[in-house]
Amino acid sequence: MLVEIPEGLVRALVDAEHVAVLTGAGMSAESGIPTFRDPQTGLWSRYRPEELATPEALRRNPDLVWSWYAWRREKVRQARPHAGHRALVRLEGLVPRFTLITQNVDGLHQRAGSREVIELHGNILRTRCADCGRQVQDWPPAPEGRAPRCPHCGGVLRPDVVFFGEPLPEGALQRAWQAAASCDVMLVVGTSAVVEPAASLPRLAYMRGAVVAEINPQRTPLSDLVHYRLPAPAGEALPALVAALEAARKPGSVGR
Ligand code: APR
Repeated sequence: MLVEIPEGLVRALVDAEHVAVLTGAGMSAESGIPTFRDPQTGLWSRYRPEELATPEALRRNPDLVWSWYAWRREKVRQARPHAGHRALVRLEGLVPRFTLITQNVDGLHQRAGSREVIELHGNILRTRCADCGRQVQDWPPAPEGRAPRCPHCGGVLRPDVVFFGEPLPEGALQRAWQAAASCDVMLVVGTSAVVEPAASLPRLAYMRGAVVAEINPQRTPLSDLVHYRLPAPAGEALPALVAALEAARKPGSVGR
């Protein structure tokens, strides 16, 4: 399917001093990592993330929470960045200032070559102790299906991600607010825009007068607000958008 790239969006990117991008689980869907709120298939369809990704679930049933994250971590390890991730790496080199903010915990942007990635919800490939808080690289093997224990204090280990109800990493959130407050264009890619505070970032950018574009095959609560909607998968829309920007920047073409 050929995705149509709005001329106005290309011009806004040509003129932009600062481009911000906010990505969600849909950005990793074409890399084979299930999203949270699309109809789920497979082993974990009977659980909702809200039931597993919480401090209470970890206290109540650390073995189940650990197994769910071990399953997701394996999916992440098998995944590869796709053309959309690589298009964002190209975009970073085409604009004076670029900020990539992600809700994803899979590290695919970094693996594609994005340098500065603001991880709002942490990273599933990092592990920390739920009790002493230390980051832990390796730990004594635990019996099958059991959550491993911290080698320092014997506490329960957990992924270094933000659970529902937990505060986001302060520094990451501050930098994300600053980017939303200063960007000229914000691309919102593959997020259902229902989880705060991430969902407020595009609204802040919009209220400040930034050009906001949504890349998502489905409509979301942001769809009526944004200036442009590209109703296509990230793996198609982002390469097409960046190719249009590269063409527009050629000498003698439109814009700067
Ligand atoms: N390209 C672009 N968007 C896609 C694609 C794709 N190939 N496939 C699905 N999508 C869209 C869906 O239409 C949906 O709007 O991606 C969005 C995924 O939404 P969610 O599953 O809710 O993921 P996300 O918005 O990242 O969730 C936010 O909620 O569960 C918590 O912490 C978790 O970071 C997550 C947060």
